[in-house]
Amino acid sequence: MTRRVLVSGNWKMNHNHFESIQFVQKLAAILRASPLPSGRDASLHPPFTSLRSVQTAVESDAVPVALGAQDCHGMDRGAFTGEVSAEMLAKLGVSYVIVGHSERRTYFGETDEIVRAKLDAVLRHAMTPILCVGETLDERQGGRAEEKVSAQLGTALSKRPGSVVGGLVVAYEPIWAIGTGETATASDAQHMAAHIRREVERLSGAEAAGGIRVQYGGSVTPENARVLLSCPDVDGLLVGGASLGAEGFAAIGRAGA
Ligand code: PGA
Repeated sequence: MTRRVLVSGNWKMNHNHFESIQFVQKLAAILRASPLPSGRDASLHPPFTSLRSVQTAVESDAVPVALGAQDCHGMDRGAFTGEVSAEMLAKLGVSYVIVGHSERRTYFGETDEIVRAKLDAVLRHAMTPILCVGETLDERQGGRAEEKVSAQLGTALSKRPGSVVGGLVVAYEPIWAIGTGETATASDAQHMAAHIRREVERLSGAEAAGGIRVQYGGSVTPENARVLLSCPDVDGLLVGGASLGAEGFAAIGRAGA
């Protein structure tokens, strides 16, 4: 099955709503002059405070990118000061929600169980989760990378229908490569992407394994995007730092096509 490639820009805690609108206007002009190749999808994941502005700017300029969020809460409403629910995101026109990013897991104590609840919430509101998995440097050096990723996938995906799992995006983000300038080699990325697909097949069946899209994330740049996207099991990229400029993001979206 040919899967569409998804390139996602995770802005993290960058770009206030003015800067976000400027980004979208610039991206609109770039993509008007030179559209993304066919078979390529893009999503933008601004901070919550920019979602509405980005949505309006994307709609008014008909920019061919989907709206994404960086996180959500597992409950739909209630006394959870400071939190944003998946229901609220769906109302804003969000299509993709990142869950279980390693920065959430590390700095905000998110466990695999919390990540599963968030994934449930995203699915409940008919959006597509981008489930992040990945190992630390210690785990990699200790030969435990696959085991770690399998455990994260197991908690998030077990007992879900294959048809649901087949619609998900899984982002393989080795923690040692995030924001460090260290990128996994294409062969590391391919190896783990293939492992993820095998695990999904074991947990949820062949249809699910054929349907899921596996992104690679961690120090992706316009320079290394082509070789990463050439890996047979890599169906997209989750991009942090290099997605903050419209030119660079568009260049990554076009890489290798
Ligand atoms: P980076 O971040 O591209 O800045 O390494 C990737 C991510 O955390 O999604």
